[in-house]
Amino acid sequence: MNIEEVDGLTAAALAALGSAADLAALEALRVKYIGRNGLLPELMQGLKAVPAADKPALGQALNRFKVSVTAAVAARQAALAAAAKAAKAGAFDWSLPGRWARQGRRHPIQQLIDRTSEIFRRMGFTVADGPDVETEYYNFDALNTPADHVSRDVQDTFYLPGGLLLRTQTSAVQARYMESHPPPVRIVCPGRCYRRDTTDATHSANFHQIEGLYVDTRVSLADLKGDIDHFARELMGPGVKSRFRTHFFPFTEPSVEVDFSCHMCGGAGCRVCKQSGWIEIMGAGMVDPNVLQLAGYDPAAVMGYAFGMGIERLAMILFGIDDIRRLYENDVRYLAQF
Ligand code: PHE
Repeated sequence: MNIEEVDGLTAAALAALGSAADLAALEALRVKYIGRNGLLPELMQGLKAVPAADKPALGQALNRFKVSVTAAVAARQAALAAAAKAAKAGAFDWSLPGRWARQGRRHPIQQLIDRTSEIFRRMGFTVADGPDVETEYYNFDALNTPADHVSRDVQDTFYLPGGLLLRTQTSAVQARYMESHPPPVRIVCPGRCYRRDTTDATHSANFHQIEGLYVDTRVSLADLKGDIDHFARELMGPGVKSRFRTHFFPFTEPSVEVDFSCHMCGGAGCRVCKQSGWIEIMGAGMVDPNVLQLAGYDPAAVMGYAFGMGIERLAMILFGIDDIRRLYENDVRYLAQF
């Protein structure tokens, strides 16, 4: 046994270890080279027969064998483990069902606000806005509402300290808008309203309305009828008609309630229209001259119409929702249907 022989064995062992295919093959090689009955103990045994002068150098060669083989086993082991881990991470099971990202959608109330606003926008109206917290002046006085009118009752209106209240109708925006904009005006105002209603299937203390106001030098009830008819068809379908019934509002004269022919049965009578063929949709009328005057307009020079409708009611009719509370429970499983 000489140094060259030992170094040759070392090189061969390192080459074999470097290409061990898996952990089992590597273990077999480890046992073969440095195991208790392996090559290294055998060579150490042979060292005894070597002349004393050659022993140190040959001993060092055997040590090189031991150190480098031990290191090569560890290195190969780490490399095989890393490769196994990478292979596992890269595995993709194409047969598994995917995870769907749930898509959000607009609340039915917002959908109806957007739809109605868009129809009126196409008719030349712009969208205006006003505060939810109003003064008694804009919610009632400016709308020609007498001091003793029932709607002012604390049983109907939420009053706040300091002469403020939560607006009971989007009509409050009318007065505000006219004060700051000279005629002609053509606006719709969607927004929240508040009334002291006890919540049930058709009432909520917090609901939404969309208000319309059109003021110009020549505006008639026929314009109101024509525009509402157009809106009815755009919103509910081409066959839908509107009809006016006389009514009373403090801020319009004459005042009407507007029904749409039932879009479900075409007027024949069904569950949605409670067999009547008609569905009540909004209040409307010609703006009372007092309202124009209070806003700083000249009632001898301009005239206008106004209307207001409940958004929840529209949503319930169009989507077939039978209980208004469903709209506020925020159950996305329910709301995602619309
Ligand atoms: N503000 C009325 C209501 O809340 C609706 C309405 C608006 C009526 C505009 C006439 C004109 O019922």
